[in-house]
Amino acid sequence: MLPTLQYVQSGSATSLHIASESAEALAARFGTPLYVYSQPAFEAAFARLKSAFSSVSPLLCYALKASGNIHILRKLADMGAGMDVVSGGELERAWLSGVPMDHIVFAGVGKTRVEIAAALSGKHSLLGTEARGRNGESVTTRGPVGLFNIESEGEARRIAEVASELNIVARGCIRVNPNVDAHTHKYTTTGKSENKFGIDLARVAELFDELRGVPGIQLVGIHMHLGSPIASAAPYAEAISAITPLLDRLQSSGHPISVLNIGGGYGINYGLSAPQNAEEFGAALCPLLTPLVARGIRIVLEPGRSIIAQAGVLLTRVQYVKQGQAKRFVICDAGMHTLIRPALYQAYHFIWPVSPRGGHTPTDMKPVPPAAGLEACDVVGPICESSDFLATDRVMPRVEPDDLLAVFCAGAYGMSMSFNYNDHPRPAEVLVGPDGPRLIRSRQTQMQLVINELEQSSQ
Ligand code: LLP
Repeated sequence: MLPTLQYVQSGSATSLHIASESAEALAARFGTPLYVYSQPAFEAAFARLKSAFSSVSPLLCYALKASGNIHILRKLADMGAGMDVVSGGELERAWLSGVPMDHIVFAGVGKTRVEIAAALSGKHSLLGTEARGRNGESVTTRGPVGLFNIESEGEARRIAEVASELNIVARGCIRVNPNVDAHTHKYTTTGKSENKFGIDLARVAELFDELRGVPGIQLVGIHMHLGSPIASAAPYAEAISAITPLLDRLQSSGHPISVLNIGGGYGINYGLSAPQNAEEFGAALCPLLTPLVARGIRIVLEPGRSIIAQAGVLLTRVQYVKQGQAKRFVICDAGMHTLIRPALYQAYHFIWPVSPRGGHTPTDMKPVPPAAGLEACDVVGPICESSDFLATDRVMPRVEPDDLLAVFCAGAYGMSMSFNYNDHPRPAEVLVGPDGPRLIRSRQTQMQLVINELEQSSQ
């Protein structure tokens, strides 16, 4: 099915295994809803992207918004990953995972003074001055992030101000809005002129000139991120071609340009259609990047989904099966609060029973046409919203209450976008590595949901 995710035959029955661990056993041990990640799968995805772009030796900064569990970040940090963060909170996660600060790039349109200060000096860490890093080091000795990805003129001036107050020089890339259509969902398109991200290409050179010599900031490059997921390299090629003359102009007018960050967005195969793969992205883009590298420009990539999406599975237990007048509903303990992508972007995730009845073992993740022994249903959750679905009009083997379902390719923007609506605790996370399964985040408790209120005095 997917790297390290297989249905394993035992007698006449088959059952899903994740990196050789039985999904049934994991759900029985850790409960549901449960996010399970295959370490060999995400390590292989990281290595594959790195190798696809090896001719330009990029810095790969994993976009931890896709899935930010510290234990996953540590594995990627051990493989040499930098991190792309978009908030003070993500910055602290990256630091706790042991990534060198100069391998962290800090993006995001709304950076506050407090977040900027935390990114410049550990004395302003949002964790407090007592925090300790991965190897026990004090947070107060922490230096500044490698690069700010700057999204507006106002932000550039604010970073310069905060850094001057702290007697530090911040290094930054200007995020360019190249007005290129990435042909993805309108909610995840970021490189068009009507999007809030970045600065219009035409205004960028002026900002470089304005900030030349201003204390507290040094602009060293250009950042772009067009959207996510992107199915083909063509929009990147279009944007890189539009940005290259700007890089020429900035270099020839004496700006110390040493970075081009081409962002994330590399699509993955969810089962509906096959986007270009890592090798195809690399083969299409490296020839455009090589001349820039020859001029001393370091390439940065910010992949999130392409590293972690296929490595993660959401396991959910069927609670009820209800036959409505128009539809059959499979009601699960996971819903939009566990995985919001179907509700928010009409995203497709392949869903199949972990132990399918009748030997219906899937061979790929494409939608299945109606057939004998299969039933059409909506896979829904417990939330009081009609948008609470994981799939609509989906054909699957017959399921019964207490059966276990697997939602595939849920590793990216699953757990990280989960929330507590209707007072449901956020799920647990398990990592399956070479030493077997390990709980890497315990299930949120009901008490954790009410404690911030209970600790306030009653009138
Ligand atoms: N860099 C920047 C500046 C970003 O904003 C993003 C994602 C990435 C890198 C990583 O993109 P990736 O390689 O993961 O495609 N929640 C949506 C996706 C939102 C992406 C936000 N930015 C979803 O579930 O599809």
